[in-house]
Amino acid sequence: TMAPMRLLVTGGAGFIGSNFVRQALDALDCQVDVLDALTYAGDRSSLAEVEHRINFVHGSVTDAAIVDELVRQADTVVHFAAESHNDNSVVDPSPFVQTNLIGTFNILESVRRHDKRLHHISTDEVFGDLELDEERRFTEESAFDPSSPYSSTKAGSDLMVRGWIRSFGVRATISHCSNNYGPFHHIEKFIPRQITNVIDGVRPKVYGSGQNVRDWIHVHDHNTAVNAILERGRIGQTYLIGAECELNNIVVVQEILRLMGRPDDWFDMVGDRPGHDLRYAIDSSKLQAELGWKPQYLNFRDGLAQTIEWYQQNESWWRPKKEATEAKYREMGR
Ligand code: NAD
Ligand code: DAU
Repeated sequence: TMAPMRLLVTGGAGFIGSNFVRQALDALDCQVDVLDALTYAGDRSSLAEVEHRINFVHGSVTDAAIVDELVRQADTVVHFAAESHNDNSVVDPSPFVQTNLIGTFNILESVRRHDKRLHHISTDEVFGDLELDEERRFTEESAFDPSSPYSSTKAGSDLMVRGWIRSFGVRATISHCSNNYGPFHHIEKFIPRQITNVIDGVRPKVYGSGQNVRDWIHVHDHNTAVNAILERGRIGQTYLIGAECELNNIVVVQEILRLMGRPDDWFDMVGDRPGHDLRYAIDSSKLQAELGWKPQYLNFRDGLAQTIEWYQQNESWWRPKKEATEAKYREMGR
């Protein structure tokens, strides 16, 4: 019998990484090491359910020695660790350069040295933004055109992965997913910020015109796609992940308000984010045709209702983060 696959998951205490770890332990015969720096965005309690089944290492991807030791022991690396929030990146880009660029460089050098399989997690934001009325959606062929320190450092990390694949034959795949939502999402992000505001009796805050469009996908569906790529993806390939759910921010806030029993106009318009991307839209036909992947959450309202319920029932998870998060936004004037 074959030994179980040993997976190294970076950023496994974050929103998407922790969901991936839970799902991987269910779906795959695997042993899991998590490497996470536990920044403001990481929370070990997000892994409480599987704590006894994983090896958790508190450390940074910027530490080449720790990375190398863990990669050496692994069969496959799934690289989620990143500074992930655009608003923070326009206040201080420095940790974005360290984690997203230097961190990914360290991962690449170690998988090259030890000849290990890598899946690199990226975002649709590297392609820049679309006009509201444009027919075009992002595909695997779209050019990079990032707008923020967050998306440009993610784009830089993706370009390095491509270069390491071509020049060194590193066995890597890359995925670009659209906006995720679901349980354990940090409350600095749009949807959980507004849900927890409404719980607190505070009106939601919508940036700029509120017309900005995001293409929403449930975090569970993002990770079933990552699993499909790990199992059946072609080495060297890039896959876009999305679930065809484009909505503007006002529509999303009004869904939250309706589900939480508040009037439709119970929100405030606030200042805009610098460089704010207008619209993202993903064409995931390659993933669907090649790997037979399909999203399971087909109704945004149901997924959102379930997410709201999770925040209502898990206040002890988010409450300790709320004051510091809102203090950061007050500094930004949003
Ligand atoms: P998150 O901010 O919730 O989690 C990031 C995790 O990485 C945290 O646990 C944090 O402690 C950890 N981390 C940060 N710096 C680190 C370092 N130097 N070393 C080790 N760990 C470190 O982010 P998320 O939303 O879960 O995003 C995960 C990945 O998915 C990122 O690469 C992001 O670019 C990508 N992504 C996110 C979305 C989305 O909608 N959230 C969509 C597409 C792609
Ligand atoms: O597209 C994928 C990306 O989605 C990921 O790569 C990023 O890691 C992730 O943070 C997310 O980026 P966005 O900038 O799209 O997400 P955010 O939740 O910050 O904002 C979503 C939209 O809501 C965006 O148009 C800005 C707006 N917004 C955000 C906040 C926090 C508001 O209107 N009000 C708010 O309070």
